Amino acid sequence: MADFVRYQRTDNVAVITLDNPPVNAFSPGVAEQLYSRLDEATEDAAVEAIVLIGGGRTFTAGADIKEFGKFVSGEKSPSNSLSRVISRLEDCPKPVIAAIHGTALGGGLEVAMGCHYRVAGASATVGVPEVKLGLIPGAMGTQRLPRLCGIARAAEMCATGIMVAAREAWETGILDEIVDGDLLPDAISFAQAIVASGDTPRKTRDIDDRLGDPAENAASIERLKQQLAKRTRGQIAPAMAIQAVEAAATLSFDDAVKREAELFQECLHSEQCKGLIHIFFGERAVGKVPGIDKATARRSIETAAVVGAGTMGGGITMAYVNTGIPVVLKEIDQERLDKGLERIRKTYATSVKRGRLTSEEVERRMELISPTVDYQALSEADIIIEAVFEGMALKEQVFGELDEVAKPNAILATNTSTLDIDRIAAATKRPESVIGHHFFSPANVMKLLEIVRGKASSDDVIATSMDMAKRLGKIGVLVGNCFGFVGNRMFGPYQREAQFLLEEGADVEQVDKVLFDFGLAMGPLAVSDLAGIDVSWRIHQEIKDSIPDGMRNSLVMDKLYEMDRYGQKTAAGWYRYDGREPIPDPIVEELIEKTALEAGITRRAIADDEIIERTMYALANEGARLLEEGIALRSVDIDVVYVYGYGFPAWRGGPMMYADSVGLKKVYDRVCHFQESQGFWWEPAPLLKELAESGGSFRDYRG
Ligand code: 3HC
Ligand code: NAI
Repeated sequence: MADFVRYQRTDNVAVITLDNPPVNAFSPGVAEQLYSRLDEATEDAAVEAIVLIGGGRTFTAGADIKEFGKFVSGEKSPSNSLSRVISRLEDCPKPVIAAIHGTALGGGLEVAMGCHYRVAGASATVGVPEVKLGLIPGAMGTQRLPRLCGIARAAEMCATGIMVAAREAWETGILDEIVDGDLLPDAISFAQAIVASGDTPRKTRDIDDRLGDPAENAASIERLKQQLAKRTRGQIAPAMAIQAVEAAATLSFDDAVKREAELFQECLHSEQCKGLIHIFFGERAVGKVPGIDKATARRSIETAAVVGAGTMGGGITMAYVNTGIPVVLKEIDQERLDKGLERIRKTYATSVKRGRLTSEEVERRMELISPTVDYQALSEADIIIEAVFEGMALKEQVFGELDEVAKPNAILATNTSTLDIDRIAAATKRPESVIGHHFFSPANVMKLLEIVRGKASSDDVIATSMDMAKRLGKIGVLVGNCFGFVGNRMFGPYQREAQFLLEEGADVEQVDKVLFDFGLAMGPLAVSDLAGIDVSWRIHQEIKDSIPDGMRNSLVMDKLYEMDRYGQKTAAGWYRYDGREPIPDPIVEELIEKTALEAGITRRAIADDEIIERTMYALANEGARLLEEGIALRSVDIDVVYVYGYGFPAWRGGPMMYADSVGLKKVYDRVCHFQESQGFWWEPAPLLKELAESGGSFRDYRG
């Protein structure tokens, strides 16, 4: 077994260093080796105090998340070895000081709290983010944290998983000292001062004067629950975290620890935990592109240009200047340019109003934008992102023009949501430099960036694009070129089924409510109103000739378009709107009924389960095709696209993981059933059939 824990002595202080790169997670063996090193320090008569520090970039990121799958199978309990060594730290007769740099997260903070004192570098952060994995702290953290910073603050930290900066952690009692100099020598000096004071080591479990006032705690926790009701809708772990922390007030330390363990086990065995861990690793996996060498030379990106200052162009411009990259923003004429800039200013003004930015910061960002109506102004940009209207002819024209002015090594990216990247690239003499950068609205906020690889896109353009996503604070997912790429291609069948269900008898509110309750950020019809029925209509015009005759089409949306009901922007679509508040509209219900009657569709009561099956299996069936065609590299790429671009609940792990959790045999059987009752659109994807018959899962297919 590797050496995960190093030991050395400086004068009368033993320095124990965790050494399990990259983040010193407590993988199998780490806790055991730390235990032995503590024995060594205890027995060494020359040692009067111990400093525990992390090697490399961080203190420790806590338990090894990769191990959790094994725990779910009941093989072993995750927190046993970790809890054992934490108790050993706390029971150590010599003072133990945690020296924290980077992050002390989850089990990492639990280890630090088992130490008698904690000193940290000024840039360190601490937190218990287990809840983001569908868990609660499981190594006595829910009991030690309130003993340091009070029940109310501990409940908030455990239920939200927020990261707390060193200064604030010091102010709330989690840290004992912040050091500005070199961490290790300062921690050693701190340890020596403790020795000199002659104080007996202070055990966190015995601190009983910081829990806080019961009435104030109750009020804070009530407020916290209200905040969480919306933010963590559907999730079980946040409420369990609060319950565990509250036990600190009512039970003895040992009994409360038992309660924590019960709650932890319940979370660990939940589907939500599986889903969230799948997304945790998925987020990191999507950055690894098979076939593209890590060492691929990148193109340097210091300056950018955006073509089109509409909804997306404005958002993309903000995403760039927020990162400090100057942007030349190009429009057709001055009037539209002014309008676009005004929209950007208005968005920033809202951030100032909410206290997220200062006016000075906004001015600095605005200064990074150089507005123009002249193509020549784009000639120095390292990357140009096109965000003009969706239409092939226009995009071809714009790329032809860009080819004339852009410098030789510039990346030419299109924000098209559906169109063929290869055709757009063919409008230039440098197709290797052309790629899709599909942002999601609002582009300055949404975390997803679909990076669409054309057949000629070069490796360095792909690698630079993936890096660029990170620089912009986004998650870049590389996808292949087809109509709608991954996200929108799947969204088509999803929307189609939602709208078919209306014609068959469901009402708008029912469909949206069922999917909202399933965990989606918004129901599909509310999304359609937000994105714009005119936008969907325009996309439909581009593809309608390719739909074979006799295929069922959703009929109502075109009629809404003809009635100028474009959604939120016209205060009427599937709903009517009072501000942004959707109100069910009897006119739409009548329209649906009339349309169904004319089309000879017999309306019936639609069960909620059918709404879930028809929409979710439509997603999974199309996802299976994308996987098989290689448009999506792995099923987790699809899941990440849906969680970060389409408001799919992360705790369900994304649509492909959801299908896996239902079981692909059942999904396939239902798809076959829908094919019988609904026809062609439901033809099962060959990969779905194959995996259902072989007992496989999407996750293991090219996983
Ligand atoms: N276990 C296993 N692997 C981990 C890990 C962990 N706790 N934390 C990070 N990693 C891995 C990542 O998967 C990644 O692996 P890769 O290079 O193969 O893709 C690598 O470490 C580096 O991670 P990041 O790319 O995320 O690096 P960053 O520098 O951007 O972020 C971090 C570092 C802030 C520590 C971030 O990784 C993070 O938030 N990690 C999760 C921390 C966490 O949730 N801890 C709680 C664990 S559960 C627990 O402790 C239960 C206990 O209460 C019993
Ligand atoms: P928009 O209509 O808000 O903005 C388009 C802008 O492009 C207009 O301001 C127009 O004046 C400008 N424009 C047109 N031709 C131009 C030219 N030759 N030079 C400079 N400017 C020009 O459209 P939106 O919604 O911003 O969409 C832009 C692109 O982004 C489309 O391809 C769309 O499919 C895609 N997209 C849209 C999303 C959305 O939610 N709105 C999401 C993701 C992608």
